[in-house]
Amino acid sequence: MAWFRRVARPGDTDQVVHTIDGGVDGDVDFETRRVLPECVSLACLSGKGGVGKTTTAINLGASLAELGLTVLAVDCDPQSNLTSGLAVDAYRVNPTVGDVLQGRCTVMDAVVETRWDNLWLLPASPDLSAVEQGLAVSLGREQILRDAMQRDRVHDRFDVVIYDTPPNFGFHTVNVLAATRWVLVPLQMSGFALRGLKELLRVTNLAAERLNPQLEVLGVVPTFVNLRTRLSRDMLPALCDISGVSVFPVHVPYTVRLQESSLVGVPINDLAPTGPAAEAYRRLATEVLAAVDAASADGRARA
Ligand SMILES: Nc1ncnc2c1ncn2[C@@H]1O[C@H](COP(=O)(O)OP(=O)(O)OP(=O)(O)O)[C@@H](O)[C@H]1O
Ligand SMILES: [Mg+2]
Repeated sequence: MAWFRRVARPGDTDQVVHTIDGGVDGDVDFETRRVLPECVSLACLSGKGGVGKTTTAINLGASLAELGLTVLAVDCDPQSNLTSGLAVDAYRVNPTVGDVLQGRCTVMDAVVETRWDNLWLLPASPDLSAVEQGLAVSLGREQILRDAMQRDRVHDRFDVVIYDTPPNFGFHTVNVLAATRWVLVPLQMSGFALRGLKELLRVTNLAAERLNPQLEVLGVVPTFVNLRTRLSRDMLPALCDISGVSVFPVHVPYTVRLQESSLVGVPINDLAPTGPAAEAYRRLATEVLAAVDAASADGRARA
């Protein structure tokens, strides 16, 4: 079987073109075009559950893909919600990221196409929860994912790699922190939201010191925003006052349409393309690219 994907972006003539050999039996070829000069890798992270990490990974990923960028969504959560949220059956898909971590296959062996143009998935299954115990106690366990991504030159093949993480700072999250360049923090507008942020920054700084010197928090994404409530109205400016962390000027609104979209496994820009949630995630996509651009220019100026 072979399939070919082309990024339809008029005027982009000098992209890097890659043909990818993959598939369990090595018989799947597909072609991606990298439009960006460098791959942007992002992890949706929060120690808290149910704050919109997976929803952000899916819909930011889909919005970046809609812009014509080749996007790989990587599911690193045993709950496998990113996988089912992109209409892939987590109980049947094989191989998965768990097989990659156990050295049974390469990343590109496990990557599958989704129903949406330019959007690929490295799926997870619930078995992922047992992977850590199955690994021999060995040095470098935190870097297994990063090494696997590097071996397959995944960052050369995609414009964007977006990781979804579980709601804790355990083995899978630490592997993502070793592999990613940027951290995005979806922050639910609720009373306890700010409490977890301090711990997240501590863990991220620790990971940057010990595992991945390039790691940085790109910004906080306010989620579940309902400007009719005083809580959302009061929390947004309070968030912006937290020193050292940028807050994206995008409010992902509280909307039942996002719940429906995760239920049916369709990104919001397909389910309700003109609604406020799709608009918010599209805006987030351009803001994220601009923030990465600005940070890279800043880094070059300092070098
Ligand atoms: N802005 C929103 N408005 C309303 N519902 C939302 C919004 N964002 C996410 N949801 C819903 O809230 C639930 C939790 O969202 P999601 O799964 O993205 O959170 P999570 O942080 O990934 O959770 P977990 O920590 O369990 O992985 C889902 O049912 C999702 O559809
Ligand atoms: Mg999740």
